[in-house]
Amino acid sequence: MYIGIDLGTSSVKMILVDFNQNIIAHANAKLSVQSPKDGYNEQDPKEWENATLDCLDSLQLQKPKEFSETISIGISGHMHGATLVNKNGEVIRPCILWNDTRSYQECIEFEKQDFDVRSISGNITMPGFTAPKINWIKNYENENFEKIFKILLPKDYLRFYLTGEYFSEMSDASGTLWLDIKNRKWSERLLACSFLEEKHMPKLVEGNEDGGILKSKFKEKYKFKNDVIIVGGAGDNAASAVGMGITNENQSFISLGTSGVFFTPTENFLSNTGDAVHSFCHCLPNKWHLMSVMLSASNCLDWVCSITNTSISEALINAEKYFLETEDLLNSSFFLPYLSGERTPHNDPHIRGSFHSMKTTTSTSNLQYAVIEGVSFGILDGVNSINKVNNNYEKIFMVGGGSKSKFWIEILATLLNRKLSVCNQSEFGAALGVARLAMNADKNLKNKENIITEIKPKETFNPREDKADYLLKRYNIWKDLYSSNCKIAPRLIS
Ligand code: XUL
Repeated sequence: MYIGIDLGTSSVKMILVDFNQNIIAHANAKLSVQSPKDGYNEQDPKEWENATLDCLDSLQLQKPKEFSETISIGISGHMHGATLVNKNGEVIRPCILWNDTRSYQECIEFEKQDFDVRSISGNITMPGFTAPKINWIKNYENENFEKIFKILLPKDYLRFYLTGEYFSEMSDASGTLWLDIKNRKWSERLLACSFLEEKHMPKLVEGNEDGGILKSKFKEKYKFKNDVIIVGGAGDNAASAVGMGITNENQSFISLGTSGVFFTPTENFLSNTGDAVHSFCHCLPNKWHLMSVMLSASNCLDWVCSITNTSISEALINAEKYFLETEDLLNSSFFLPYLSGERTPHNDPHIRGSFHSMKTTTSTSNLQYAVIEGVSFGILDGVNSINKVNNNYEKIFMVGGGSKSKFWIEILATLLNRKLSVCNQSEFGAALGVARLAMNADKNLKNKENIITEIKPKETFNPREDKADYLLKRYNIWKDLYSSNCKIAPRLIS
């Protein structure tokens, strides 16, 4: 048996998987996010610990015998978060999350060096990444900076809690900006840009290699028969990719979760920093990937549903009806989905969301439609940015909460002019991905090369030719809305 843990932004999801990769038990425990100021997003690592123990309790309760036979665990997590640990292994301050944009000034400072930072880090320095967060802590909370013994990514903090050991792996470490992406090792030069040294970092392994053994107190508490190995694991997007078997450059996926992601593996290190494309190591040896990231995707839908007092399913029905039945669609309202700023392609921490072209006749359904359309336009922006360096993929899988809507997938298929496929179990995609990585640690398992296979699509959606012209016309207007809005955006936030 193997356990896959996915430390998501809004919940911990956990699965117990048998030798044939069947999910035989699953659990979920909610997490909260604290936003003390506009642009600030933090989480208390204590919540991760408690939620993880709750999920382990639940798996044990559901399948006590199988659970006790666990051989190995894989952990995935939301990326980039800065979890600071002092020399006693205690957390110094709440973790600053991936969607926190406070460190935009520090990004400029980080890149002011006598060498080309981006040529080693492979990425633009964006406030979501770990490094500028540490420079912000040095500037504004120096007493906390002085206490730093190790800096851990969220899932690696959870690993430390479970094993007492300091490990990370390549895919998540790529999002720190301290990794030499091409050579897959910490870069002393990049660490020095944050006044750090390699001793502040955990040891690096690949995602499918051993990265710690479960503490004996947990082995006893949960009555595990084996010394349970925790493998390197992966950042959440690389983990989802492995869950679907996306490890080669002709494959790709779009995730419509809290963030909106387009992900495609590459056989070599490639980058497009001009469009804020993320260029990271994949969680398997000698593999890399490109990724576009929108900071707010399906949470734009959650937001519009809460302000219009509508359930998500109702909003999706309203939006579809609006799309199919409104005669003057070209003239309806627009939405810019930048509720927390944006990464790909704008790298703009100041921009915020907005509706445009509101009229006395604008209805709730129009607003709900505009939100779905605006997020889809944002995904198209991301895909176009990646196409500039690599358009070598044939298949696109859809995952994340938004992928449950056929209507939304059809809009995206039409905009991208590509077939999009959905698969089963997408809710546990990242957890399944790291459970698959964990299977590699099982010394008795034969044919390891067959573990990470591509999953079968459940349904495939084609572009709607009758609507393509209309959507692309609207996309071009929508793009201009950002160009004019971005000029005043910095003056609109304090
Ligand atoms: C990736 C990113 C998000 C988070 C949260 O760069 O910031 O996808 O990992 O899911």
